[in-house]
Amino acid sequence: MRSASAAFALAWRAGPAVVAAYVTVSVVAGLLPTAAALLVSSLLDRLTAPGGGPLTPVALLLVAVTLGTSLTTPAAEFLRSESTRALRVRVQDEMLSGVNRLPGMRHFEDPAFQDRLRLAQQAAGNAPDLLVGSVVSGLQAAVLLAGFLVTVFVINPVLGAVTLLLAVPALRTQLAAGRRRAEVLRDTMGNSRREMFYGSLLSDTDTLKEIRLFNLQRYFTDRAAAELRTVVRAERGTDLRSLRERVPDLLLGAAVFAAGLLWAVRAAGRGELTVGDLSVFVTATAGIQRGVAQLAATAATAYQAALTFTFFRTLRDVPPDLVLAPEPRPVPDLAGRIELRDVWFRYTPESPWILRGVDLSLVAGEVTALVGVNGTGKSTLVKLLCRLYDPTRGRILWDGTDLRDVDPADLRERLAAVFQDYGRYDLTAGENIGIGRVADIGREDLVAGAAEAAGVHPRLSRLGQGYATLLSRIFASAGSAGAAVGELLSGGEWQRVAVARAFMRRDADLMILDEPSSGLDAAAEQEIHDSLRTLRAGATVLVISHRLSTVRDADRIVVLGDGRITESGTHDELMARDGTYARLFRLQSAGYAPAGAITGVEVAAGPPSAVTPVPSGGDAPGGAGTPRGTDDGAGAVVDSRQPPAAAGATTP
Ligand SMILES: Nc1ncnc2c1ncn2[C@@H]1O[C@H](COP(=O)(O)OP(=O)(O)OP(=O)(O)O)[C@@H](O)[C@H]1O
Ligand SMILES: [Mg+2]
Repeated sequence: MRSASAAFALAWRAGPAVVAAYVTVSVVAGLLPTAAALLVSSLLDRLTAPGGGPLTPVALLLVAVTLGTSLTTPAAEFLRSESTRALRVRVQDEMLSGVNRLPGMRHFEDPAFQDRLRLAQQAAGNAPDLLVGSVVSGLQAAVLLAGFLVTVFVINPVLGAVTLLLAVPALRTQLAAGRRRAEVLRDTMGNSRREMFYGSLLSDTDTLKEIRLFNLQRYFTDRAAAELRTVVRAERGTDLRSLRERVPDLLLGAAVFAAGLLWAVRAAGRGELTVGDLSVFVTATAGIQRGVAQLAATAATAYQAALTFTFFRTLRDVPPDLVLAPEPRPVPDLAGRIELRDVWFRYTPESPWILRGVDLSLVAGEVTALVGVNGTGKSTLVKLLCRLYDPTRGRILWDGTDLRDVDPADLRERLAAVFQDYGRYDLTAGENIGIGRVADIGREDLVAGAAEAAGVHPRLSRLGQGYATLLSRIFASAGSAGAAVGELLSGGEWQRVAVARAFMRRDADLMILDEPSSGLDAAAEQEIHDSLRTLRAGATVLVISHRLSTVRDADRIVVLGDGRITESGTHDELMARDGTYARLFRLQSAGYAPAGAITGVEVAAGPPSAVTPVPSGGDAPGGAGTPRGTDDGAGAVVDSRQPPAAAGATTP
């Protein structure tokens, strides 16, 4: 009931005039059949009884009613579509703002939440419309029923009462059927999501290569089919049950109709009923049968839609995934340092600790490099700095202000980051960079400047339509009649675009680069580091890299191991200390040394252009995080792509 009124309120807010017109037209449409039946009856009586009165006015009225019936149907259809359109706009807005309301990531990594989200999306798509539609057509059916019932009551009260009573069980079984359908939808949502997931793998350009290579088509098709079978089986089960339960209701209804018909015919034969009475009685009892069936069916639909609609409403009731301060404190310009104090973190209460007491300071104006083997929690730490999660224990202080006390959106305005798993958007090249600061997305000079600093400007300028080229193979450019299809970039070029996106915020208080170079050639990485320095002298930077030669210039290098900071200092200090960093550094530099000349430290200090593929080193830097082999000679390739004339140009 609450759902129905909520849905109605939503429809009303979306378009009050349309909803009012829709209800009015539907109620009128519900009254017309009774009026027609009564007019026919009167007409018959006037025809059969001598001197029964003039015929033409009644006939004209009947014509008017018939015309009204023909007109109300399309009018009601149009008004329903119109209210659906208004609702769609409204619901989409509420749906998206419901999702955007959550400031963190945690809910989105919870399968139960994903199920709910999916249900909410589905519900948002059709439940309000179904609900409003069925409430209105229920209303119409009720009006129709009432009209016929009154008519039958007048002719034979007993029959009227019996017909009314019969409506109750029919309504009950239909409501139960509606509820079961909604429950099936909820219980099989996981299956439906998996079915969709397996299906989408078969056409997703990200997975298609491997699907083809490993011949996985059958494998995933079968899995999708198995999930669908589960859903179909559950649906069939409830539908069969509902069918079984409806049969007695239908039989009973038919029996009452037959009894009433027999009685009426005999009564007419005895002269107790006129021909007109007989005709209206037959029409009315048949109409009641239809009305009850319609009412029960719409009630079932409405009930199911109402239950589905609660999924949509609960999305709005989900508590935020971060505890937000009621009166957030402002985030000032970073003047001193960002401090992590005894930070502990795990993703869920059941999962293992990732960070176990991290103490770390990022000093304003300094470049801090964070290194450590795969899976030690470096990217996790980045996510905590962006307040995508709060530490499970301990605090992160921004010039003394706990991040928990500030608005995450304010904080993020002050950050720029290249995540390890950055996004590749099916947008234009310019937009892919401009969204780094959406307020400046139209500023071609800023976008090109950011691209220049990330070393990708010459490449983007050479695209078919320059920065306006769509970086996509799945969308055609809007407005282009197939002339300008999208283009694609290489992995390293995409990575530079991601860096350029972060560079849109050159004034950020903290610049975070998580493996910005895993797909870049060494020269490119060095270039980006140099750009960073010239882009904003005195920027505060946190850089994570497995390629230690590029972080050796950092003001401070910290090693994360076992959930804690295990070493901290400059390159020279850490080498002298001869700990993990020194070991990793030597291991890596061994790969750069000529065969048989592995001497250690100084070898790696060589120019980046001396890069050759790093030998496999398990957990060693340059291990899984760095696609080996892409480095080989890539520097030369990228450099040679920049025509001397274009190099250094800043306009797109
Ligand atoms: N969203 C998540 N939910 C649950 N566990 C996660 C999540 N993200 C990462 N983890 C776990 O946290 C651990 C640390 O991951 P993280 O990505 O922080 O490591 P990393 O140091 O950045 O590694 P790499 O060098 O490979 O990038 C991993 O063992 C991973 O399984
Ligand atoms: Mg990482």
